[in-house]
Amino acid sequence: MPFLLFNALFKHFFFYLWYLIKFDDSMPVIKLINIVGARPQIIKASAISRAIRNHHSKDINEIIVHTGQHYDKEMSEVFFDELEIHKPHYNLGVGSAGHGRQISLMITGIEDVLLKEKPDCVLLYGDTNSTLAGAVAASKLHFPIIHIEAGLRSFNKIMPEELNRIISDHSSTLLFAPTNAAFKNLMGEGFKPENSPPYSINNPKIYLTGDIMYDNTLFFAGLAEKKKAAFLEHLLLVRDSYILVTIHRDTNTDDIVRLEEIFVTLKAMAEERDIVLVMPLHPRTIVSLKTRLRKLYDELKDCKNIKIIPPVSFLEMILLEKNCRMIVTDSGGVQKESHFFKKPCIVLRNETEWIELVNNGTAKLVGADPARIRNEFNNFMDSHLNLEYPGFYGNGKTAEFILNEILLMFEKE
Ligand code: UD1
Ligand code: UDP
Repeated sequence: MPFLLFNALFKHFFFYLWYLIKFDDSMPVIKLINIVGARPQIIKASAISRAIRNHHSKDINEIIVHTGQHYDKEMSEVFFDELEIHKPHYNLGVGSAGHGRQISLMITGIEDVLLKEKPDCVLLYGDTNSTLAGAVAASKLHFPIIHIEAGLRSFNKIMPEELNRIISDHSSTLLFAPTNAAFKNLMGEGFKPENSPPYSINNPKIYLTGDIMYDNTLFFAGLAEKKKAAFLEHLLLVRDSYILVTIHRDTNTDDIVRLEEIFVTLKAMAEERDIVLVMPLHPRTIVSLKTRLRKLYDELKDCKNIKIIPPVSFLEMILLEKNCRMIVTDSGGVQKESHFFKKPCIVLRNETEWIELVNNGTAKLVGADPARIRNEFNNFMDSHLNLEYPGFYGNGKTAEFILNEILLMFEKE
């Protein structure tokens, strides 16, 4: 008898608690769908997931949808494990394909999830095909879109990411621009900072925030030193005596002339300066080298100054960035991380969305031009320039700011 009484009271207590949380006007429960697909989006999502866990676990219900754009263990799963992100609630398993096919499969899969889950909003990151698919699926069904990393532009529409950015921004309701330049780009395209609530796709709100990747770097840098203490030693790398190289951009990997020029020049520089170049390479770069430049690939493997390694985890990457002498890359994320860790950066592209780095003189755009690569490489190695790294990317609490604004949008009048 006392047991039954206790049981009844116990149930009532939890029902009351649930009722309070669910129906308290000041505390809405928002269902947010977080769409990821490519490596950098999983890393970015970890900043948002962490902020939800730490500050909003009661008022935001996060559902993670992975399109499956990246699927190799070291391009996907490793980040969920290491960065403590909830395993995807849905994995659409789309994989690699031509852009049209890949995007259409993603749209179909995302549409099914949205119809089933009926979220309050959909969160998109950056500019990949997964971002675009999320934008099309959500906007057609009239779910409000929140775009993180809004407003970035390379002003080169041949670049697949550029159209993804434009379409995603123009489908969004809340747009979080990480830099002044991105915010100005949005204003240039007609977005009005003075818009007032209620916000919608026809009355969107733009914010100048910071960069959630800066939040991540601050959070994980110390952890990387602790958890991966032996990583550099394991690779036989000495602090400040190696250069970190990443290459994956389609303009470099799919254009065999550019790819060859880049690798031949980097190999020559490594040998001339007798310095180690460590290269965690994206699978598409390895495939291109192996299938189209086999002889060069074998020479690179034999060269004592070049270490080609598989993609590394984010904590390992942070260690490589933090302790290197210089970074050579065509990655968007790695360009910014060079700034976070105060390292000079050579950018193997003709233009960049992170233009403040170039204006600051700490990143140099060289395309794939051997003379320009050589020149900037030597400049950064030789000169004792007093490079400065101002705080372009916020205060490390951008994810919290974004979540507060999302909650405000849903607050009852
Ligand atoms: C994508 C994004 C790019 C982003 C990059 C981050 C688009 C259009 N591009 O480029 O903006 O900078 O992710 O890394 O969305 N592959 C594998 N295993 C994988 C994933 C890919 O082997 O797990 C190979 C496949 O051969 C595939 C190729 O890489 O065809 C390209 O993959 P894809 O996702 O289409 O583009 P990324 O170059 O990764
Ligand atoms: N990164 C990583 N391991 C690697 C290469 C990159 O963890 O082997 C991280 C990197 O630190 C950055 C992000 O992946 O945070 C950048 O992703 P990528 O270069 O693939 O794409 P982009 O930023 O150009 O879209």
